[in-house]
Amino acid sequence: MATAPADGTRLAVHVAIIMDGNGRWATTRGLPRTAGHRAGVRTARAIVEAARRAGVGMLTLYAFSADNWSRPRGEVTALMRLFRRTLLAESRRCADNGIRLSVIGRRDRLPPILLQTIAEAEGMTAACAGMELRVAVDYSGRDAILRAAALAEGTLPTRERFAALLADVDHGGAAARDVDLLIRTGGEQRLSDFLLWECAYAELAFTRRMWPDFTADEFLEILADFERRERRFGGVPEQAAS
Ligand code: IPE
Ligand code: IPE
Ligand code: MG
Repeated sequence: MATAPADGTRLAVHVAIIMDGNGRWATTRGLPRTAGHRAGVRTARAIVEAARRAGVGMLTLYAFSADNWSRPRGEVTALMRLFRRTLLAESRRCADNGIRLSVIGRRDRLPPILLQTIAEAEGMTAACAGMELRVAVDYSGRDAILRAAALAEGTLPTRERFAALLADVDHGGAAARDVDLLIRTGGEQRLSDFLLWECAYAELAFTRRMWPDFTADEFLEILADFERRERRFGGVPEQAAS
């Protein structure tokens, strides 16, 4: 099990999570899909706390993809309301726990009232330095790459410069940070347009557990497994290099 370091810094990693399976969790219980999304918020809260305690540096949660606008209008409206309610309820708790909260993705299609709440939550937690929590809403990895490429204006940027452009288009901070560990719940093994550039060398972990059933213990097990993996980035194992 990953245990929390005394100074909270051991795992300076970027973990990204595709929180999938809310709808199926609900329908197998005879509940409306929105009940699954509400249950999913409880899981998100537990995983954020576990990540903070484990010393994760950055946590990016996929909450709503650009393609999720194609869902039934009632589900989309319920999700937008739930985001707002969750931000209102959780931003104080984030501030108290040293968690800097930000929202990545497009802003121009979100309801104005949600935009206002996002700005307040980001403002309230702006000075926090313990963990960066990013919630991806109206996010598309491919659209982000396209918009960043347009900002490059016909030049061929370095990878570092391009990462900065990517962050610019999605409000992502100083520069888009590579994902170290990508987790997807719900049993599917695909990226669904999440952080395509940033996941170039991400370790991938898939679990069949639906997001509302995912627990802090399972999250910590995945983290511990990640720490045992050998990442080579195209090179050779350390002993073979000497
Ligand atoms: C993920 O769960 C949450 C969002 C996409 C908002 P789903 O709603 O995709 O749940 P399933 O995959 O249909 O079970
Ligand atoms: C990806 O899940 C988006 C989120 C979890 C927010 P989807 O459920 O929308 O993805 P697909 O349709 O299974 O690829
Ligand atoms: Mg899904």
